[in-house]
Amino acid sequence: MSKVLNIAVLAGDGIGPEIVKQALDVTKAVCKKFGHTLNYEEGITGASAIDAVGEPYPKATHELCMRSDAVLFGAIGDPKYDNNPSAKVRPEQGLLKMRKELGLYANIRPVSTFPSLIHKSPLRADLVEGADFMCIRELTGGMYFGRPQGRSEDGNTAYDTCVYTREEVERIMHLAYKYAGQRRKKVTMVDKANVLASSRLWRQVTQEIAPQYPDIETEYMFVDNAAMRIIQWPKSFDVLVTENLFGDILTDEASVITGSLGMLPSASIGIHTSVFEPIHGSYPQAAGKNIANPLATILSAALMFEYAFNMMEEGALIREAVAASMDAKVVTEDIAGDGKAYSTSEVGEWVVNFIKGK
Ligand code: IPM
Ligand code: MG
Repeated sequence: MSKVLNIAVLAGDGIGPEIVKQALDVTKAVCKKFGHTLNYEEGITGASAIDAVGEPYPKATHELCMRSDAVLFGAIGDPKYDNNPSAKVRPEQGLLKMRKELGLYANIRPVSTFPSLIHKSPLRADLVEGADFMCIRELTGGMYFGRPQGRSEDGNTAYDTCVYTREEVERIMHLAYKYAGQRRKKVTMVDKANVLASSRLWRQVTQEIAPQYPDIETEYMFVDNAAMRIIQWPKSFDVLVTENLFGDILTDEASVITGSLGMLPSASIGIHTSVFEPIHGSYPQAAGKNIANPLATILSAALMFEYAFNMMEEGALIREAVAASMDAKVVTEDIAGDGKAYSTSEVGEWVVNFIKGK
């Protein structure tokens, strides 16, 4: 059945525009193949929006997101802010504002391996081969949003607050169980309940909810131990669910299993429009050089078809094309190793042509 897809495209900063262009071209090719109509509109965000209008998530961009069926997102961040702790407006505030205002409480980051990349992982091949798990990171609570946050008057003390409510924990745990039910039926809830009060709420709420899912195994793990286990025994995870900051850190770690940070896509879902973005940042050193890996963004487009439009065949075709590009060794420098490094646009075009030829 052909459909109309209305998407917002927010390229953002750094390599954002280059990688999003490739994902958008892939999206266009898939829509053409399946007879869907694609309407897309671009919006500004991040440092580029600060430069243009003085704020990183302008109202017009929010309105665009709200009236779209899905948001394809690049990256946010600019080094001129990273080493300036006293900057009044920061590009990252735009990303956080978007997450909060769109109610994107769950960030889904699937971690799986590609056969042709196994040997690119710094981890032993037998450890990572077949690893396939889903990280669900809570995205609108915890230390990122807890108040108070700030500095004492004399500037010598600083504080952040980690806040969670029962409702926030409940909704994400139910989501974790739902996905585990469709997978290998295991949930690992990662916390620091031996130290943090907020973690003890997570654990208590999870213990209350778990009996509603008798066919799903619930495992509880402290975050320090989880950091070790992700490297040591990644195959032991199925659905890993955790709070915002732990999830931020653990998913960068988990990307090592895939072989490159440039390979991990994500879907942020919640109350309003869902957002699809690579987990890597704006990689400013590579901006404008046409060398960044577009595959995480292209795979985010696959998640967009699946999660936002329930178009499984379309998503599967993108995955197939991405796997084929790696088998053909048409890859960017981060995964090329001793082989030839292709440019961002060459990889994107290869994927598009594969889809057209199918
Ligand atoms: C991510 C990023 C962001 C985060 C930054 C850019 C604010 O690291 O999406 O993982 O910390 O959430
Ligand atoms: Mg991060």
